[in-house]
Amino acid sequence: MAALGEELLTTVNRLQDLVFNTIGNDSLDLPQIVVVGSQSSGKSSVLENIVGRDFLPRGSGIVTRRPLVLQLINVPTDELIEPHTPSAVSSQREWAEFHHIPGRQYYDFTEVRKEIENETARIAGNNKGINRQPINLKIYSPHVLSLTLVDLPGLTKVPIGDQPTDIEKQTRSLILEYIAKPNSIILAVSPANVDLVNSEALKLSRQVDAQGKRTIGVLTKLDLMDHGTNALDILSGRVYPLKLGFIGVVNRSQQDINGNKSLQDALAAEQEFFRHHPAYRNMAHRCGTQFLAKSLNTTLMGHIRERLPDIKARLNTLMGQTQQELASYGDMHFSGKEHRGSLILQLMTKFAGSFISSIDGTSS
Ligand code: GDP
Ligand code: NA
Ligand code: MG
Repeated sequence: MAALGEELLTTVNRLQDLVFNTIGNDSLDLPQIVVVGSQSSGKSSVLENIVGRDFLPRGSGIVTRRPLVLQLINVPTDELIEPHTPSAVSSQREWAEFHHIPGRQYYDFTEVRKEIENETARIAGNNKGINRQPINLKIYSPHVLSLTLVDLPGLTKVPIGDQPTDIEKQTRSLILEYIAKPNSIILAVSPANVDLVNSEALKLSRQVDAQGKRTIGVLTKLDLMDHGTNALDILSGRVYPLKLGFIGVVNRSQQDINGNKSLQDALAAEQEFFRHHPAYRNMAHRCGTQFLAKSLNTTLMGHIRERLPDIKARLNTLMGQTQQELASYGDMHFSGKEHRGSLILQLMTKFAGSFISSIDGTSS
């Protein structure tokens, strides 16, 4: 997640490695981030901005027609350099793999987008039909936080193309399946040029998160609002209560996409928009994609803090067991392998103790 701070990234990934190596599974249990909203509200655009890479099919009309479960996997930089790979390949630090194409690594993200399009058509047809069978995509990179993001088909009221008459019901149940999980953070995307009362994203999130505790409101298309109107009331939380609040963003327009506007240029233009807009310039620091990524950081850190007592307890137990094990060996002669294993484990758990207390600010 290029947009997430490098420092948090390093911290969380070290903790994740540690938990995995000592406890043997990923008990850090990081939330998955699920993007919901109506058709063309800007879901895929928001997701791409968060990941910091161009790889999702985007556009007017129905583009996302199967769930895309995107697993970001952090790979330490030095593990990527293998002595026998040609330099052209070893210089590539980020790659993607599809579950349905085992063994193939994609280094060109334009190809990733094409394959998502092909695979969507293969199962969901060439017309407008949707299908609940997910596309599983993994992105390996030193710049991402190991975490899962889910892009979902948007709600449509009126069936078009191949869509069955109950398309709305089907899509609704598909979305609910993903956002009902208590571990999901819901990015509820609503376009600013449509009345918030009609926001499908908020209607859906309310069904599974009635108190608005794990929903982040994202207001897209602020650049497309009628002249003389603005979304200040919504953005300051006076219209709809969400604990994590509403964040306004400006994504690339269809024209920007057709003209191949880069993600960096788009982010710069977005900042300019907020800094110079008469209604938003006083709250520009709380608007935009970068602030959204930061808020996601804070939410993730909060989640990790909640999990820490449990992780600490388990690490302590492990440490105790290791000490007992070592003591029981006494002066006996034992295999070098076991010995090394125990020592490594002990070092790691000790490190874990001090590391964890350093991030949650208490002594263990
Ligand atoms: P999805 O169907 O919800 O995934 O929406 P997409 O991300 O595919 O976007 C739908 C269309 O809206 C695309 O043509 C985007 O370029 C456009 N779009 C999305 N967000 C914005 C925005 O903030 N401003 C403008 N002008 N266009 C946007
Ligand atoms: Na779309
Ligand atoms: Mg989409």
